[in-house]
Amino acid sequence: MSTIDFFKEGIKNLKTIGTITRSSKFLCAKIVGLSQMKDAKCIVELGAGDGVMTTHILNSMPADATLFAFEINSKFCDIMRQINDPRLVVVEDSAENLEKHINAHGFKQIDVIFSALPFVVFPDEVAQSIVQTCYDILKPLGQYFQIHYSLLEKNLYKGIFGHVDIKFQLLNLPPAFILSCSKG
Ligand SMILES: C[S@@+](CC[C@H](N)C(=O)[O-])C[C@H]1O[C@@H](n2cnc3c(N)ncnc32)[C@H](O)[C@@H]1O
Repeated sequence: MSTIDFFKEGIKNLKTIGTITRSSKFLCAKIVGLSQMKDAKCIVELGAGDGVMTTHILNSMPADATLFAFEINSKFCDIMRQINDPRLVVVEDSAENLEKHINAHGFKQIDVIFSALPFVVFPDEVAQSIVQTCYDILKPLGQYFQIHYSLLEKNLYKGIFGHVDIKFQLLNLPPAFILSCSKG
């Protein structure tokens, strides 16, 4: 999808997409570079959009791992389905149903979660429930990464994970924060 098409989709669905620009290659590289996927078997991306970060994750993850990319926008899912990689499972459903989908593929725990879900536009209880599910289903020492354009939601992760590490990427429109948490 071109930048212009993403912009149009963002304008049309601002309440669910939460932005009119997708993540830059600099932001994608930075967030993937922070992760430890060497021994990962199950990796999850929440709010995968048209797959801009998905391809960065696929390029860095082990050959025998599975990546579940959750996205509710069907146009974006159609684009991701064109990524020709047997390790990718595109899930056209809400991140709220995360556990059900990974269980259906035989996974009980997740090694790494990347999220670009626009929690600022979510009802508080839905955001809280998704992040809590992520925490519960992560394996011990598993990592959770979240992209935000402000630090308004920081306490959501601090309350559940107990700590949040913050990085900043200026080379993104708008400049973005990466909030990193780990379990335990
Ligand atoms: C800020 S965009 C990020 C897109 C892409 N990952 C990127 O970094 O450019 C957030 C994405 O989350 C998706 N989304 C919103 N609510 C969702 C939900 N409940 N479950 C899964 N995806 C959701 C939107 O459709 C949108 O594509």
